[in-house]
Amino acid sequence: MFKGILFDLDGVLTDTAEYHYQAWQRLGKEIGITIDRAFNEELKGVSREDSLKLLLAHGDRTQDFDSEQFAELAQRKNEYYVEMIQEVSTADVYPGILDLLKRLKKQGIKISLASASKNGPFLLEKMSLLPYFDGIADPADVAKGKPDPEIFQLAAEKIGLTAVDCIGIEDAKAGIQAILASGAFPIGVGRPEDLGTDIVLVSSTEELTADFLTSSWQTARN
Ligand code: G6P
Ligand code: MG
Repeated sequence: MFKGILFDLDGVLTDTAEYHYQAWQRLGKEIGITIDRAFNEELKGVSREDSLKLLLAHGDRTQDFDSEQFAELAQRKNEYYVEMIQEVSTADVYPGILDLLKRLKKQGIKISLASASKNGPFLLEKMSLLPYFDGIADPADVAKGKPDPEIFQLAAEKIGLTAVDCIGIEDAKAGIQAILASGAFPIGVGRPEDLGTDIVLVSSTEELTADFLTSSWQTARN
């Protein structure tokens, strides 16, 4: 049986992946770079700085900004994003998530956060989910972001486990790659067009019941 769950946050616990998209779109517009949802799939799960690099490369503007300007752009995007998440509350927790967290707690399964977002703890607090988390991996402590496995390995470490004993839940391509590389068992939230057909997928968090997780784990690992 799995001993821990490593949760991504944006797009898994709540709809903040959409706010990240809107904030990147707004910043992009200001510097003349248009992005669409297909391109946004490349940004999901990726750190703020790496996302900005991808955005600038997408608009062929990498050379146009020195390091100071780059830092200003990253900060500006974060300001737009932070502005949008001020009103996040318990009402924004995705369907099924609270029941799942409660059930996992009862079963003694450890719960950890493996989000690349520096705004993660703020959002957990806003959604009143902090008490359910036994560990939080601080993205500032990892050298390489997703798709590198480090953040999932750290999240497992924070709950006294190794990633092989955990399930990782993700809505991003880069995140699924990170889970696979960490040795944890991935479950994707999203569409096969975006996340592939070779892993267990759910189209809604409502499907993420403790029984579903257990049977998916048992089918894959036994
Ligand atoms: C998550 C999101 C990304 C975001 C990253 C950094 O992984 O999926 O879209 O770029 O966190 O978030 P931050 O809030 O620190 O800018
Ligand atoms: Mg995500």
